Amino acid sequence: MPELSAAEFWVGPRVTLALFGGVYNNYLALDVLLRDTYRRGAAGVYFLGDVGGFGPHPARSVERLRESAVRCMAGNYDVSVGNALADCGCGYTDPRDNHYAQISYDYTLDGTTEEHRRWLAALPTRITMMVGKHRVLLVHGSPRRINEFLWESTTPAAYIHHLCELYQVDLIVNTHTGIAFERRLADGRGLINVGAIGRPANNGRLTVEYVLLHLEDGQLHSERVALEYDHARLAAEMEGEGLPPEFVATIRTGWWTTCLEILPTRERRQGRF
Ligand SMILES: [Fe+2]
Repeated sequence: MPELSAAEFWVGPRVTLALFGGVYNNYLALDVLLRDTYRRGAAGVYFLGDVGGFGPHPARSVERLRESAVRCMAGNYDVSVGNALADCGCGYTDPRDNHYAQISYDYTLDGTTEEHRRWLAALPTRITMMVGKHRVLLVHGSPRRINEFLWESTTPAAYIHHLCELYQVDLIVNTHTGIAFERRLADGRGLINVGAIGRPANNGRLTVEYVLLHLEDGQLHSERVALEYDHARLAAEMEGEGLPPEFVATIRTGWWTTCLEILPTRERRQGRF
């Protein structure tokens, strides 16, 4: 796996950056996000990886990202599709999770052109940036592993402190789990999981989420943004593509029906299944 990196700098009295992850082929939510970040005056828009999986018509999301000014990173899905690997490398351990993950993956790989695979394979797997005086590290799962799941209930402050020390950063931003959370340490450092725009966050709402990072008078603060998109159209297109009804139900209800076994107890209890 390539361990590419890049460094960039944001300075000014006021800067807003948009951070999102997990498109999962939801090109309709991606369209809404691109308009929303422009309307809110985001100076930079960063995608933390996983273009494919779950939803319909894989090429549509890749095309949109390539044509946009979004700074893109690779998630585990993009490394797998880009290199035509056997599975998504999602990191599931339960057979039921892997069964559904494989259906998505085979569909996505089959619908991805060689040109798109080359583009995915060339994406960086981390980005380091200075936002004002704050050193920010963007990763997909964690700085240690592209498919590490950092859930709110199982990621103690001590672990975030350890990662910030190890990688010499003030803020780590990640995705991969599909459920957003933020934890700040007493010294101001911390971690923001931006969630995903590809499917709802297992909370019974039909919206999807991303994060705005504001630099104001030297201080960083975040804002979670819920996006409405044409979920009825996405669900109908998923049915048209023959994707599992379990996936379609999640889009229509806001509750996860698959890839549940990986959830820690607390996150699982917050869902319906
Ligand atoms: Fe992922």
